[in-house]
Amino acid sequence: MENKNFKTCFPFVVSLLILIAVVSPLPAAAYTNHTVGAAAGWFFNADTATPAAKYSDWAATQTFNLGDYLIFKTSTNQSVIQTYNETTYKNCSIDYSEDDDTFSFTSGNSEFNQSLTIAIPLTINGTNYYFSDSDDGVQCQQGMAFEIDVKYGSGLPPSLNQPPPPAYVEPSPPLPDVTTPPPSTGFRTNLPWLVSVITLCGMVVL
Ligand SMILES: *[C@@H]1O[C@H](CO)[C@@H](O)[C@H](O)[C@H]1NC(C)=O
Ligand SMILES: *[C@@H]1O[C@H](CO)[C@@H](O)[C@H](O)[C@H]1NC(C)=O
Ligand SMILES: *[C@@H]1O[C@H](CO)[C@@H](O)[C@H](O)[C@H]1NC(C)=O
Ligand SMILES: *[C@@H]1O[C@H](CO)[C@@H](O)[C@H](O)[C@H]1NC(C)=O
Ligand SMILES: *[C@@H]1O[C@H](CO)[C@@H](O)[C@H](O)[C@H]1NC(C)=O
Ligand SMILES: *[C@@H]1O[C@H](CO)[C@@H](O)[C@H](O)[C@H]1NC(C)=O
Repeated sequence: MENKNFKTCFPFVVSLLILIAVVSPLPAAAYTNHTVGAAAGWFFNADTATPAAKYSDWAATQTFNLGDYLIFKTSTNQSVIQTYNETTYKNCSIDYSEDDDTFSFTSGNSEFNQSLTIAIPLTINGTNYYFSDSDDGVQCQQGMAFEIDVKYGSGLPPSLNQPPPPAYVEPSPPLPDVTTPPPSTGFRTNLPWLVSVITLCGMVVL
């Protein structure tokens, strides 16, 4: 009797589980990693005094959203400057004393020509500028620079969205322990429903 019930219900429960897996509102990660310059990477050919790719042309083929990453495949010979300051970008040089919108990404490795990947998350929407400040700005002047327009997209993922810490408040006397329920997932939310449907299924078979 027990066995027959199980056999009758089993295909039904399996299809139900599949349905739940398909329709569960799990967040879809819609973030893209953009490899700068595609296969050419982020390099400068000192012999021909030209960048390895036309970076502006490459950028024009991409759609950038908050939470995406720019992946610079490069070497310890190169640098990446990220800025939100158009003056800095146009001038191919950084003046840190005047400009707090500019960030320099280097390897910290003093050995030249070592393979290096720099991953830069896009955390501010609007215009972002990138350039190489190697060779005293010459590489940038020769076209090793590009600007992108970062769209809001689906916003920053929690991993990149770090709000400033809350203001300090004087600790109050300890309260009795409060247990917080574990964060619910799409699957857990559906579990009571699944249990009731299985119960119902058992009743119908009986
Ligand atoms: C994108 O790059 C970041 C930083 O390197 C990495 O954590 C993430 O897993 C990458 N995502 C994909 C889809 O490759
Ligand atoms: C890297 O920099 C060093 C020192 O400036 C130079 O000798 C070397 O040729 C460079 N390598 C490449 C691949 O540009
Ligand atoms: C532009 O760059 C030059 C050096 O290349 C520097 O002397 C000058 O101060 C910079 N101008 C601005 C506005 O940052
Ligand atoms: C941009 O950089 C220039 C030159 O360093 C500086 O004078 C200006 O104040 C900066 N602008 C902002 C908004 O930081
Ligand atoms: C830099 O490294 C690449 C491969 O990693 C190599 O082909 C090239 O000859 C190196 N250049 C110098 C100047 O050491
Ligand atoms: C950033 O995105 C928000 C939300 O879509 C929008 O209101 C704001 O104007 C955007 N800022 C820039 C500089 O594009």
